[in-house]
Amino acid sequence: MALCARFCCGKTSNRKEKPKKQQTWRVFSLKELHAATNNFNYDNKLGEGGFGSVYWGQLWDGSQIAVKRLKVWSDKADMEFAVEVEILGRVRHKNLLSLRGYCAEGQERLIVYDYMPNLSLLSHLHGHHSAELLGWDRRMKIAIGSAEGITYLHHHATPHIIHRDIKASNVLLDSDFEAQVSDFGFAKLIPDGATHVTTRVKGTLGYLAPEYAMLGKASESCDVYSFGILLLELASGKKPIEKLSPTMKRTLTGWALPLVCQNKFSEVADPKLNGKYVEEELKRVLLVALICAQNQPEKRPTMLEVVELLKGDSKEKLANLENNELFNPTKSGSHQEGSSSAEDSTDFISEEKDEEELKEEKADHAHSS
Ligand SMILES: Nc1ncnc2c1ncn2[C@@H]1O[C@H](COP(=O)(O)OP(=O)(O)OP(=O)(O)O)[C@@H](O)[C@H]1O
Ligand SMILES: [Mg+2]
Repeated sequence: MALCARFCCGKTSNRKEKPKKQQTWRVFSLKELHAATNNFNYDNKLGEGGFGSVYWGQLWDGSQIAVKRLKVWSDKADMEFAVEVEILGRVRHKNLLSLRGYCAEGQERLIVYDYMPNLSLLSHLHGHHSAELLGWDRRMKIAIGSAEGITYLHHHATPHIIHRDIKASNVLLDSDFEAQVSDFGFAKLIPDGATHVTTRVKGTLGYLAPEYAMLGKASESCDVYSFGILLLELASGKKPIEKLSPTMKRTLTGWALPLVCQNKFSEVADPKLNGKYVEEELKRVLLVALICAQNQPEKRPTMLEVVELLKGDSKEKLANLENNELFNPTKSGSHQEGSSSAEDSTDFISEEKDEEELKEEKADHAHSS
């Protein structure tokens, strides 16, 4: 089958090359992965996502791995598996989680990654880790690193890749707290020349660009929107959608934009930071986040611009950003329909909502235990 041809290609073309650290991937046997994960023991489970469960494991050479085991077997899953393996196999960047190998035996489909000892950004922002672990410098490094990883997908990979599921659980942290953007399972390769691909909506509540949620138009700018939400989450420590009461929900953009417009940056900052942040950087992160997470896709920056802005390389561009109509609502007439539109998209995907919330609760539970 086509899947097999792809696997074989990847393997043989790499085999003759001099082994570089984590530069090649290989086929794992099911037996080997059973042994590594103690037969996919519940105690080894790191969490569960849209694809299935992820288990921690240790290989015979002592190296630690994370094994993603598809839960439901279907033609659709087979296709998504093939997509993920093919994309991951070809993408290499310091801020993108590399594929270590795969296993396709009988009905089993498994993907093997390096284990990320500092787990996901989600577990640090909303889990039970000590607040000291995620100080401001680390947050800046994670913001810039993950932006660079996505920039690589959008602008340097051939063909360009849209991630389509950028969120805090898909930003993993290595031993140096360097961001490793993971999960390309929803990504689709964009054919050269095409500006967007129309496809079924898949992603995570709270991070979905309105045009993607409503019209199913996936493009790089949808990733930019999701990245903006991720940045806001990173700076504020708040979830993309906060439950205020059983019937009331608040979007992060709807809450943060008015505060930023009034220059009340410190009120947006994560209280866990205890005021320990670089003011200029916080301001920069919040402005960039909101400019990314605005409703009109054509007004969002590219990821190349996002990296430049986050690094603060160009004073002129930062000044332009501050003067953007988004932050000067009196000039432009009114605020973006930001919060209402984000809420519309929430309604639109209400079916996925409960499943997602359940998943979040489970993840919280898994990380806390
Ligand atoms: N290589 C890894 N090292 C450490 N933890 C990992 C690794 N891969 C995944 N995880 C963790 O395992 C859990 C499940 O991951 P998974 O990717 O299946 O779900 P998700 O990220 O919540 O959702 P999605 O399916 O949309 O990606 C998450 O908490 C994730 O951070
Ligand atoms: Mg994931």
